[in-house]
Amino acid sequence: MKRREFIGEACRFAVLCSSPLLLSSLQSCEDVNNESNDDFININEDTLEFNLEQSPFDKLKVVGGSVATQGNSFDSNGILLFRQSESIILAFSRRCTHAGATLNAFSNGSSRCSSHGSEFNLSGEPTKGPASSKLDQYIVEIVSNIIKVSKS
Ligand code: FES
Repeated sequence: MKRREFIGEACRFAVLCSSPLLLSSLQSCEDVNNESNDDFININEDTLEFNLEQSPFDKLKVVGGSVATQGNSFDSNGILLFRQSESIILAFSRRCTHAGATLNAFSNGSSRCSSHGSEFNLSGEPTKGPASSKLDQYIVEIVSNIIKVSKS
């Protein structure tokens, strides 16, 4: 865990402990699935693969389903996945384009950065600053239930 991430997590914990009302509201939008890297079939710097039959990726079998992974050798911040249609799964880096913090999972069509409040839509475009550029997007190939995500 990077120093910035550690400080962010420690601050979030302190806020959560100090306000039961805030705790309940944050839990309602916290749908991050920090699956371990063992859940991937194959993972390296250029590609990662997983099986839609395997939890938690089975959420992507349904249009509108989303999953956020933890950091890994493919992307140190992890990736945001969203099932847009039967034939399209979108994949973005969770690295915020403002200063590199890790974004939250998609919730109600938006991913928020806890560091300074930027928000990104399901196209990876910033809808609220300070971030002003689009998220890195990856190529997704769907072959039966195997999903391959690559950088080029
Ligand atoms: S690092 Fe995400 S808004 Fe600043």
